Amino acid sequence: MLGLATGSTPVPFYQELIRLHREEGMSFARVITFNLDEYRGLDRAHPESYWSFMHRQLFDHIDVPAESIHLPLGIVDDVPAHCAAYEQAILAAGGIDFQLLGIGRTGHIGFNEPGSPRDSRTREIHLDPITRQDAAPAFGGIEQVPTTAITMGCGTILAARRIALLAFGSNKAAIVKEAIEGPVTDRVSASFLQDHPDAAFYLDAEAASLL
Ligand code: GLP
Repeated sequence: MLGLATGSTPVPFYQELIRLHREEGMSFARVITFNLDEYRGLDRAHPESYWSFMHRQLFDHIDVPAESIHLPLGIVDDVPAHCAAYEQAILAAGGIDFQLLGIGRTGHIGFNEPGSPRDSRTREIHLDPITRQDAAPAFGGIEQVPTTAITMGCGTILAARRIALLAFGSNKAAIVKEAIEGPVTDRVSASFLQDHPDAAFYLDAEAASLL
């Protein structure tokens, strides 16, 4: 059972999975996936929905069955019920074996913005202005970026048996340093990974330059 992430960071990882599938016969027929998050208010067909992103970058190119793919819905009436059902579905599938993560400049994992409790579960969250600013180019302006999202909580993520956080580039160096060397605090959700028994950061030289 795989927990998957969006953003530009995991794209090379997904390209390698596609290569392994095409060239080396790796099959995903028995894999179940749960993504971290989805923007609120976006239909699945919207080009910037994480549903679209994941299909474009990975799912359309491998043999994972459609019924094994899970992302929160961006448009849903009863948000608390939908979030509870997402948590339930993760448990029913046996829990997350391997969770892939990126990191936002606010230190968020998934969309767990500063102030997200360690034991938080899947819920709606207000996006930080920095997060919305970082997403603005893809949406063609900050006013087009959704103001809220549905995200797995820190507690949902920390329940994964193994966690890999990827961070590339100098614009991640400061937050990577805080997450790894700073105090464990809800001001930086990624700092909770310090207390996880099997979590690792995979960095390029620029992202690691302040360590
Ligand atoms: C979004 C996603 C995060 C991701 C972050 C960083 O906020 N919800 O999961 O880690 O973007 O994106 P990028 O990898 O493009 O820097």
